[in-house]
Amino acid sequence: MVDLQGQYLRIKGEIDSAIQEVIASSRFIRGPIVDAFSSELSKYLGIEHVIACGNGTDALQIALMALQLEPGDEVIIPAFTYIATAEVIALLGLTPVLVDVDPRTFNIDASKIEDAITERTRCIMPVHLFGQGTDMNTVMHIASKHDLYVIEDNAQSIGAKFEGKPLGGIGHIGTTSFFPSKNLGCYGDGGALFTNDAELAEKCFMIGNHGQEKKYYHSKVGINSRLDAVQAAVLRVKLRHLDKYVEARQKAAAYYDSALEADDRYLTPFRDDRSDHVFHQYTLTINGIERSSLRADLSRKGIPSMVYYPLPVHLQEAYTSDKYPKGLFPIAEELCEKVISIPMHSELKEEELSYICTALREYQS
Ligand SMILES: Cc1ncc(COP(=O)(O)O)c(C=O)c1O
Repeated sequence: MVDLQGQYLRIKGEIDSAIQEVIASSRFIRGPIVDAFSSELSKYLGIEHVIACGNGTDALQIALMALQLEPGDEVIIPAFTYIATAEVIALLGLTPVLVDVDPRTFNIDASKIEDAITERTRCIMPVHLFGQGTDMNTVMHIASKHDLYVIEDNAQSIGAKFEGKPLGGIGHIGTTSFFPSKNLGCYGDGGALFTNDAELAEKCFMIGNHGQEKKYYHSKVGINSRLDAVQAAVLRVKLRHLDKYVEARQKAAAYYDSALEADDRYLTPFRDDRSDHVFHQYTLTINGIERSSLRADLSRKGIPSMVYYPLPVHLQEAYTSDKYPKGLFPIAEELCEKVISIPMHSELKEEELSYICTALREYQS
């Protein structure tokens, strides 16, 4: 699905010397390289504060902790997302409230958010899935009308903009993940929070550092969530190449679009013209074919595929509740049955794209 080895080999010199620099400095946790990366990313995104942390799940947890929500407070999330979004809410004793998604963008259906608001609702947490932004106009309008916080889970769409505004910097806090396969990925775990609010930035920074105000003085209960300097060094190099990587992904997506759009068994990804699409994933919705047989056929031809995600949040064993019976979120449930993601990364060559598209077009069920 990704070619991290191929990507590394093209920038090997830069990466190796950046890692060497960290080792020579002996500053492995936080320090000047992490600070430099945070300020370079802040400049790249056009978001004032970037707080690096241990991973994208921690970033979500730190964001929720910074908002000082009370147990039982409700946080609205899409029913179709990676589990981390729901998990941190549950871990903090908050209540995840699910909303169905838009079948075209796969993102939360903003027109359904208001119906889910109760007097305990405190926060909306849209997830910009697969590389494209949620309808942030509607989300922000609802949030301001009901006095709610917005945390944008931007693990999958870093660098994309919604109507010219950087995703992750529109709500009160944004988060991302630098998991290796992400558009901006490191060589281990990593994550970050974004905000234009100096006070929230300070809180997030403290919470990720054991609630420490100054060394060994702790004014909040925090966690230990730090980006290490080796990861920051890798990310500084990759950030310099990010635009090029995104362009390569968009080019591959355009190839897939034109090669597959005539085949009505494959619905190619919808583009919301208000948002960029940075194609973290290229996800088809299949129609009239059995997914497992298609995947087996692709696999026999050496083509990997993945299902992001096979089960919506409300049907996951750990998150089932009488409140959310099967059938309540029909779009999320249907997408879980019908989506298939095909290889998408910055190193895809035209022969590979052609081979993948031929296999899809020639597939006979
Ligand atoms: C939408 C979303 N949220 C959160 C996360 C969690 O990030 P991490 O794996 O860095 O903890 C991911 C990572 O896959 C994700 O895709």
